[in-house]
Amino acid sequence: MINRRDFLAKTAAGAGAGLVLGTPGLLSAASTGSPSNKLNVALIGHGKQGQVLFESMKNIPGLHFQAVCDIWEYNRKIAVGHVRALQKHTPKDYENIEDLLANEKGLDAAVIATPDFWHSPHTVKCLEAGLNVYCEKMMSNTIDGARAMVKAMEKSGKLCQIGHQRRSNPRYRFTLDQLINGNKICGQIVNANAQWNRAVKSSQNIAYAEKLTIKQDILTKYGFKDMHQFMNWRFFRDLSGGAISDLGAHQIDIFNWFLGAVPKSVYATGGNSYFTQREHFDNVMALFDYDTPQGQVRAFYQVLTTTSSGGGYWESFMGTEGTIKISENSATTEIFKEASPAPKDPNAPKDPNEKASSLSWDNLVQRGFLGRKAAPVVAPVAGGVTDSRVSAPPEGFSLPGELNKPPHQPHLENFFASVRGEAKLNCDARHAFLSEAPIYFVNPSALSKQPIVFTPEQLSV
Ligand SMILES: NC(=O)c1ccc[n+]([C@@H]2O[C@H](COP(=O)([O-])OP(=O)(O)OC[C@H]3O[C@@H](n4cnc5c(N)ncnc54)[C@H](O)[C@@H]3O)[C@@H](O)[C@H]2O)c1
Repeated sequence: MINRRDFLAKTAAGAGAGLVLGTPGLLSAASTGSPSNKLNVALIGHGKQGQVLFESMKNIPGLHFQAVCDIWEYNRKIAVGHVRALQKHTPKDYENIEDLLANEKGLDAAVIATPDFWHSPHTVKCLEAGLNVYCEKMMSNTIDGARAMVKAMEKSGKLCQIGHQRRSNPRYRFTLDQLINGNKICGQIVNANAQWNRAVKSSQNIAYAEKLTIKQDILTKYGFKDMHQFMNWRFFRDLSGGAISDLGAHQIDIFNWFLGAVPKSVYATGGNSYFTQREHFDNVMALFDYDTPQGQVRAFYQVLTTTSSGGGYWESFMGTEGTIKISENSATTEIFKEASPAPKDPNAPKDPNEKASSLSWDNLVQRGFLGRKAAPVVAPVAGGVTDSRVSAPPEGFSLPGELNKPPHQPHLENFFASVRGEAKLNCDARHAFLSEAPIYFVNPSALSKQPIVFTPEQLSV
């Protein structure tokens, strides 16, 4: 069991060696080699995200899609059609995962993209059957479900990667390793900020064609009250954690990964301002407090399903020397350098791993680590007198390089390379649990209108 203090100590110790929460080598489950280059894969859940993952997997050599499972005949047929079009063979298809696991021999891996409340039972069953698992985030709709996944991974000795795909995104890894940790271009990070803002239109109920309705006995067997709930499982408390886990899971994970720590408390508020009939809040705002190896950090996260203003989804790390705003959408990425360097605070806590920045910003630009943006336009000041309380506008920089692959592909590549014994997972279930655990307490804080100060047990497996 790793408690929060051990975890902080480990990540602090690891930081100097380039090991922080989420990088390979720390707490990763051992990888298991495959006897041949071909990997036999089962697809579990072929809805929207299952199909997105399949599009990425098509680009990864050596995968053989042996069998598919989905309770909805409509998506099951789509899965069979996708595999047949790619591999000219017809995979066996199943409504029930237990039948698939009982009948299919020689499987190496399962890729799970079912609704959140099915992740834990599906992952545990697959691991127990000797398969390596790639399972979508959020690990589960309950923290105990997530704990069971970590335990099953460690008991089985198999691999279990959780679908926090930014962990394998080269732009994110470069930003953390080279800019934030290596060259410390933000200076001391004091605040972090992230959001996922989505317009009402993108947050509507998902409709379905009457002729595709699933029989009630099948819906009931798999935990759905009716077809509306089956299509819109994200809005129901027994099936999902709502927007804060569905969308927030991606970005609160980046807080924890980039800060190399887990929060010590959360204080959240939420409400049903527009979607008044939904079980889950349509708007949530959460404040996390961290003690990081570099000092205190406060992080603010908001998920709004009633507006897309504010640039959609991104994470921002604000330090004394500069700010990095990063997103899977590279158009949203921005890097600012403070116009005047921050004098060192003589009372600041000493970071035992601190090393002086080896490169100036100009050098980073010359070496291709950063691009330079056009200088900001500055409004003329009255009478030429500058107000000393107003900060000078920061210089603008950009991150080089676009990800020239679908966003999920590097994370899947990392998974299959690990199954082949050629890499280590970038986000195994234990890492994902450490990072996701605080998220399970956001809704309870908002519902009770109370801050929650975490105990080590709350954040431990
Ligand atoms: N990483 C990302 O960026 C990302 C993006 C979107 C969704 N997701 C995750 O992917 C998962 C699926 O989301 P989605 O949008 O595809 O949902 P969806 O409702 O479109 O698809 C779910 C699929 O699972 C099937 N299913 C439901 N219960 C099943 C069961 N017991 N056995 C087998 N199949 C079952 C459904 O029939 C459906 O085809 C969720 O966990 C979600 O959080 C991740």
